[in-house]
Amino acid sequence: MALQVVQRRSRGFICLNAHPEGCRRNVERQIETILGRESSVRGGPSKVLVIGASTGYGLASRIAAAWGFGAKTVGVFLERPPEGNKTASAGFYNTVAFHEFARQRRLFAASINGDAFADETKSATADLLRKELSKVELIIYSLAAPKRIDPVSGVVHHSALKPIGNSYTNKTVELDSEKVTEVTIPPATDQQIADTVAVMGGADWKLWIDMLEEQGLLAENARTIAYSYIGPEMTWPIYRDGTIGRAKNHLEETARALHSRLRDKFGGGARIAVNKAIVTQASAAIPVVPLYMSLLFRVMKQKGLDEGAIDQMRRLFFEFLADDAAPKFDAEGRIRLDDREMLPAVQADVMAAWPRVDSENLREWTDFVGFQHEFRALFGFEIEGVDYAEPVETELSW
Ligand code: NAI
Repeated sequence: MALQVVQRRSRGFICLNAHPEGCRRNVERQIETILGRESSVRGGPSKVLVIGASTGYGLASRIAAAWGFGAKTVGVFLERPPEGNKTASAGFYNTVAFHEFARQRRLFAASINGDAFADETKSATADLLRKELSKVELIIYSLAAPKRIDPVSGVVHHSALKPIGNSYTNKTVELDSEKVTEVTIPPATDQQIADTVAVMGGADWKLWIDMLEEQGLLAENARTIAYSYIGPEMTWPIYRDGTIGRAKNHLEETARALHSRLRDKFGGGARIAVNKAIVTQASAAIPVVPLYMSLLFRVMKQKGLDEGAIDQMRRLFFEFLADDAAPKFDAEGRIRLDDREMLPAVQADVMAAWPRVDSENLREWTDFVGFQHEFRALFGFEIEGVDYAEPVETELSW
């Protein structure tokens, strides 16, 4: 037992604690979004493995699979458990809540808290799948990680968020001071490029699929999906044409190779879903992007087009993965969930405002307030209905 009052402790884009009740409500709200819009559970993949299942797009995928299709889910992630007075990480509490709600609805759920890049985590997952699910129909690969230890060489690769070739200067926003400042990011070294591809590219995704195939754990029609981002040209030097973009290119090449293999052997396939920019721990860490998102959210909300992680995943699961879906792909065979973000009318408004945004007009011209709120909400803070003066149990488990 560790009953305590939990107040937010954060520094810039780092939050040091999480509120269990706030996280629980976040999960509940996402479940309600899936249940609220559909009258009944739809047919779709019923045995689903989500790698990176505790926060952001992975958590929303797991919720969409479980509450949208009634799927049995196995989640893999790396989260900090509670320890004494120290709260667990948000993803840990999200998972506690996921299990609680799944139990109430008699949905099978099992979770593995471990390094997804490590062989031991892969074999523990295989053992669990063999015992509980026999074979998996859908594998969602939604990792966003700062480092990867190569399972063969033991080399530690650290990912970097840097431009390639030239340094990149643009505006960004500081979360605490609310100042719009100019940031210059020096170009990556060749080693940093290679390291980022090693962490965020497709190498580990392929290892997961290889392992599942070798162990006979892939079902007929087995499908797998990994997530990518493109965004507007203005952010390309730091995103699409930067180190992370190289990693995403590698992820897309991996998707093509996996697609032919899964199609030929199992009648299934592998796809990239290009998602919309949303506030997550991973995206908030990218320079320039938080200011872009603050502007984007304002424009999309004004036009009634804004979507959060669960809205995006509802579309992915119901319009692309459900048995009765008629999925459409772009010329490169990708699923495009960023269609609304990339609408010319949306981008034109964002780009028209971009040069004019400064510290003085930030709150008026952008949805910085919404961005800041969503960032805090990721950790269970500023959630409606939660009394932050009340002590809560932080020593939880699933
Ligand atoms: P996130 O930070 O919310 O989630 C990352 C997940 O990876 C968590 O479940 C975390 O526990 C897990 N993880 C990290 N390191 C791990 C490790 N070593 N072993 C096991 N699990 C580990 O990130 P987000 O934003 O949901 O990103 C997921 C994917 O979606 C990424 O590929 C990202 O590039 C992509 N994406 C994100 C967008 C955004 O705006 N947030 C937009 C489009 C794509």
